[in-house]
Amino acid sequence: MIIVYSLGGSILADLDPDRIKQYAEALIELSNDHKIYIVVGGGRIAREYIQKARTLGASEIFCDNIGIIATRINAMILAAALGKAAPEDIAQNYSDAVESHYKIVVMGGISPGQTTDAVSAMLAERAHAERLVIVTSVDGIYTADPEIVSSAKKLNNITTKELVHLAMKTDMKAGSRSPIDPLAAKIIERSSIPTAVVNGKKIENLKKGALGGHDGTEIKKE
Ligand code: UTP
Repeated sequence: MIIVYSLGGSILADLDPDRIKQYAEALIELSNDHKIYIVVGGGRIAREYIQKARTLGASEIFCDNIGIIATRINAMILAAALGKAAPEDIAQNYSDAVESHYKIVVMGGISPGQTTDAVSAMLAERAHAERLVIVTSVDGIYTADPEIVSSAKKLNNITTKELVHLAMKTDMKAGSRSPIDPLAAKIIERSSIPTAVVNGKKIENLKKGALGGHDGTEIKKE
């Protein structure tokens, strides 16, 4: 099976090297039977640098470009942990990624105005992936931001149409915190890629999100 992961930067960047190694080992194990693509997010370092640049008067596109660099630094940290299982140079674009002969391919952001969720959805299209797994630091998709709205409920299942509706309410600014960005939602809708949103704090969710049995949100066409 071809699996694309969107690995939120908050999952990797704040972790100690031993824990990053555990993620790498889980991915290497999966790569024995599957082709794995991993798009790594920017997490805290992206948000901090974007905030500093914005305070200094940078434009949103400038801030997006800072975010992209942060995602690539995090992707390199994962590549370091993967060792010989993945190329040392992270993929710089979709062609690089799909043309790689490695069983594991790592990349970060690509172009301004989106997040790595959108990159992972487009990579899933390009690679004809059978499964997209969005690995975040929350339990799945909620009806609203649970940190702001205490009555927000987690959704176990959601249609691609409902996903687009929810995603359209989110902010498009550089570094904005949202469960899934609007462009990613539209790509998932148009391609009907079977997608899971899972909490990456539990490492077993990498496997369960791809192969079944996860307790996050499953996104399907009607
Ligand atoms: P992330 O993909 O990490 O955003 O990109 P996120 O989903 O908000 O964060 P986490 O990792 O799940 O916590 C960080 C920022 O980098 C820019 C955007 O500004 C984004 O908010 N970015 C990233 C781009 O402009 N283009 C890309 O292709 C990727």
